[in-house]
Amino acid sequence: MLSYRHSYHAGNFGDVIKHIVLIEILEHLLKKEAPFEFIDTHAGAGLYNLHSEQAAKLKEYAKGVGKLNPNDWPELASYFSVLARHNPPGKLDYYPGSPLIAMDCLRQQDRGWFFELHSSDVEILKHNTAGNRRIKVMHQDGFVGLSGLLPPASKRGLILVDPSYEIKSDYNRVFDSIARAYKKSPTCSYAIWYPVVDRRLINQLEKKFINSGIKKIEQYELSVCGDLHKGMTASGMIVINPPWQLRDKMLHILPRLAKTLAEDSAASFKCEVLVGE
Ligand SMILES: C[S@@+](CC[C@H](N)C(=O)[O-])C[C@H]1O[C@@H](n2cnc3c(N)ncnc32)[C@H](O)[C@@H]1O
Repeated sequence: MLSYRHSYHAGNFGDVIKHIVLIEILEHLLKKEAPFEFIDTHAGAGLYNLHSEQAAKLKEYAKGVGKLNPNDWPELASYFSVLARHNPPGKLDYYPGSPLIAMDCLRQQDRGWFFELHSSDVEILKHNTAGNRRIKVMHQDGFVGLSGLLPPASKRGLILVDPSYEIKSDYNRVFDSIARAYKKSPTCSYAIWYPVVDRRLINQLEKKFINSGIKKIEQYELSVCGDLHKGMTASGMIVINPPWQLRDKMLHILPRLAKTLAEDSAASFKCEVLVGE
């Protein structure tokens, strides 16, 4: 039984780094006319009301996207224009999740596949994507379903793997499902989100990727406080086959993002090449 609901966390600093990276990769794929497929193995509900009872409980967005003034971030214009499409002018009442961000970007020739296991959130996601024939929502385990969709016919694709890690086995399942998927589809890009709640688990995950034989792996991380604090102290993305400009862009954005979202003086960032060409 799944207890995690993303509505409690939408727009937090983890979403900020995840969705900035997601949009950068999608924009790169959009540069060519050839179709691509976007697969979201853990899609969530798609759109979150920031004034809902759930969001108001922890107000995580206030320490994430709520701290960013779009006027100060011209380099994040695409991110803020996606947010603006889901909000009244000048306001931040709603936060779009990864499936709706992707849906905004997909063209006639592209396809989106969204897996969501929570029985309520999958219904909300179906409602939020209703009428879009390029999108298929599946009430299935995304770790299992992913491999059946690969390789995409066009060989171009982005796979977002974004579990809540509420079940400890998610750490192993992330690596195993990506290793299996990469064998079938080595030309796709893969973006894996992770939270730092226990640094040792992330060190182990990094090591597995480094020793996997998979090439071209980068890591981007945003830390808002020292690792010894309770809860999620940092969060990041491991990206396989990143667009070549992504690292420069993140090197430019992350230092200021870490300063702006800092909760103590240990806030920092990582921008690493885990495995080269
Ligand atoms: C972190 S949230 C996803 C947020 C979303 N990707 C976004 O960026 O807006 C993780 C979601 O995965 C769902 N989930 C958990 N285990 C799953 C599984 N094995 N397969 C598919 N969905 C799962 C949870 O119900 C939750 O909605």
